[in-house]
Amino acid sequence: MKKELLQLFEQAREEFKNTASSDTKAQEQWRSLYLGRKGKISEMAKHMKDLSSAEKKEIGKIFNEGKKELEQLLGGEVGAQKEVAIDMTIPGVAPAIGHVHPITQVMDTVVELFVGMGFDVAEGPEVELSKYNFDLLNIPKDHPSRDMWDTFYVNHGSSSEDVVMRTHTSPVQLRAMEDKEPPVRLIVPGRVFRNEATDASHETNFYQIEGLVIDKGIGVPDLVGVLQAAMKGLYGDDTEIRLRPSFFPFVEPGFEIDVSCKLWEAKTNGKKWLEILGAGMVHPTVLKNMGVDPNEYTGFAFGMGLDRLMMLNHGVDDIRLSYTGGLPFVRQF
Ligand code: DAH
Repeated sequence: MKKELLQLFEQAREEFKNTASSDTKAQEQWRSLYLGRKGKISEMAKHMKDLSSAEKKEIGKIFNEGKKELEQLLGGEVGAQKEVAIDMTIPGVAPAIGHVHPITQVMDTVVELFVGMGFDVAEGPEVELSKYNFDLLNIPKDHPSRDMWDTFYVNHGSSSEDVVMRTHTSPVQLRAMEDKEPPVRLIVPGRVFRNEATDASHETNFYQIEGLVIDKGIGVPDLVGVLQAAMKGLYGDDTEIRLRPSFFPFVEPGFEIDVSCKLWEAKTNGKKWLEILGAGMVHPTVLKNMGVDPNEYTGFAFGMGLDRLMMLNHGVDDIRLSYTGGLPFVRQF
């Protein structure tokens, strides 16, 4: 069988030499005749089972090497032909290019605007100590004012409530002031978390941007001036703001601020005033907690919901759409 096998390989090699390399039809015939599933080599392999194990070993080796050699003959020829056959004019597969999420777009615009007004950007952790999220902001434990925030407490081995998913960006006011001295102008963009039953206007996580200004002689007119300038910068010169008295434990006095602009009026069927911000003069206790002397310095702070801005800008009526991860939604912006 060894002799026959070697002869068969020799015959195949000879025949291949006589086949023109451009004649693909002849090559295919050759391949099928020798290397095909029912080709001569497969046929001969069937007789392997009658051999002794020593023979099997020897013949098997010749068999494998010979077959490989023939395949390479063909591969070389066909491979060379394939190279020639590449059509360079066929368009490629276009890579899918994403873009910035609409909330991030709004965040970037607002950050850029405040940076242009001389503000620095600060950031803080999303998993926060209650100390920063509440206590140092003048929201003591067991005080009813803590109920203003529906909080996710983080179980970290003890049953204490000293670690939370931050409910607002305000704790970063305290963190940032640990290594700063007034005068400061800061903004803090970031993600916050609330233990909400979700609906069209409530989500368990959303985005805010916080502001803090501390200097000598800062008063409510500065707060109004800065926020008015910011809103005009974002929505045009005919944008107006309106202050309503409100309560936040970390400011005194505190305000809710409504904004009126043409874009939103158009997107909300003519609703003039929309509540956008919480703000106020930093509470003396909070200044003290920052290591700042309230007799020497005063300041104002504000917090704004970025999801709400995005929704008003685009006429989106359900906050949950932002967080579905659905591409049909984000591709619109
Ligand atoms: N942290 C408040 C909230 O999420 C919003 C806020 C109100 C921030 C007044 C402030 C402020 O800085 O002065 O409900």
